[in-house]
Amino acid sequence: MIDIINKRRSIRKYLNQPVEEEKIISLLKAAMNAPTAKNRQEWRFAVISDKELLTRFATEVSPYTSMVKDASYAIVVSGDLHVTPSKEYICVDCAAAIENMLLCAVELELGCCWCGLADNEDRVSKTKQLLNLPDNFYPVAIVAIGYPDEVKEPNNRYDPEKVTYYH
Ligand SMILES: Cc1cc2nc3c(=O)[nH]c(=O)nc-3n(C[C@H](O)[C@H](O)[C@H](O)COP(=O)(O)O)c2cc1C
Repeated sequence: MIDIINKRRSIRKYLNQPVEEEKIISLLKAAMNAPTAKNRQEWRFAVISDKELLTRFATEVSPYTSMVKDASYAIVVSGDLHVTPSKEYICVDCAAAIENMLLCAVELELGCCWCGLADNEDRVSKTKQLLNLPDNFYPVAIVAIGYPDEVKEPNNRYDPEKVTYYH
């Protein structure tokens, strides 16, 4: 598990090789086994493999999501404001789910990139429009998924200066 955590990197280049649907189901299972405040499980997942939609997302929603056009899949993770009215909790709960997906992806030899949408009104409204999401959905992020076409070193960012102990 520690190895998988360290190996997880943001992968923005993908092979032209389709990701198997079973692997997408595994990512979704990992996401939905994440903890949520009051066990509300308010996340909702939009799974996109339509090439035109992926391209439109990359070009129309955010200047920082260009890798989405080359991804085999992308998953937009939203929170349902009818279930959890607090956007802060939605962000925290969705973040835990997203991280579970990213770690699961490492085990499945997939490459992913988490791209933030929340807290940017323009991206949130463009995402809702493009995917025709219900008004009560708050999109937190889009995760691009594909077989990696780049190799990155594992992370090693431990910095004791950032830690305070209260023994
Ligand atoms: C909340 C959040 C939003 C992010 N948004 C983007 C994004 O819009 N585009 C992008 O290319 N990477 C995005 N990233 C990925 C970060 O740039 C990346 O995690 C960071 O540079 C560290 O690199 P690593 O993931 O390889 O360890 C985001 C990450 C997080 C957690």
